[in-house]
Amino acid sequence: MGRPVTVTTTGEVFTRRWVVDMMLDLAGYQGDVSSLRVVEPSVGSGAFFGPMVERLVASSNDWEAMRPSLRGFDIIPEHVDACKRLAESILTDAGCPIAIELVDEWLHAEDFLLAKVPEADLVIGNPPYIRIENIDPQLLALYRHVCPTMRGRADLSLASSNVDWMSWPRVADSCTSAPIDGCGTDTEDHFVPK
Ligand SMILES: C[S@@+](CC[C@H](N)C(=O)[O-])C[C@H]1O[C@@H](n2cnc3c(N)ncnc32)[C@H](O)[C@@H]1O
Repeated sequence: MGRPVTVTTTGEVFTRRWVVDMMLDLAGYQGDVSSLRVVEPSVGSGAFFGPMVERLVASSNDWEAMRPSLRGFDIIPEHVDACKRLAESILTDAGCPIAIELVDEWLHAEDFLLAKVPEADLVIGNPPYIRIENIDPQLLALYRHVCPTMRGRADLSLASSNVDWMSWPRVADSCTSAPIDGCGTDTEDHFVPK
């Protein structure tokens, strides 16, 4: 089975396929997923996004209806481009005539904490592990404003596992991985699900 993630020297952590499939199954993104709306806050090269597109095209070929099905963000434009290429090739292989339109609608080079995120049934992914020391103080203050649970030692991964509950009003469920060394946060004391 092997380790669940591949850790790169740039500090990014890319999720292995078996972990992604397990998380998607556990979160209920299986079978006919055509009516679900899912957000991936930090897509990387598409470890979650690719399998989600595969599951979506296996459920339906109503391409127009897929416009609101997925949303993905990443702060690095090259990651978004790589993810777009992956999603486009899955759609094209499945016979989708509007593959480019769909991936442009789905994927955005933006900071997920500051982006306008649509209503969703599920938020899923492997969030960025960025310590607060490595975040510009002004940006950190802004993050703390939009994500009230990001207090004390909470790093960016904590924000991403909580922002879906605290700041995005209509998210039904979330499933995110967590760093194994913990975040030294007081989030649990202040976490009040809506
Ligand atoms: C831990 S990697 C995970 C990538 C992918 N979800 C996976 O499992 O392979 C985190 C990703 O978060 C992105 N990232 C970092 N800060 C971000 C932010 N504020 N908003 C959106 N994406 C961000 C990084 O560029 C990186 O691609």
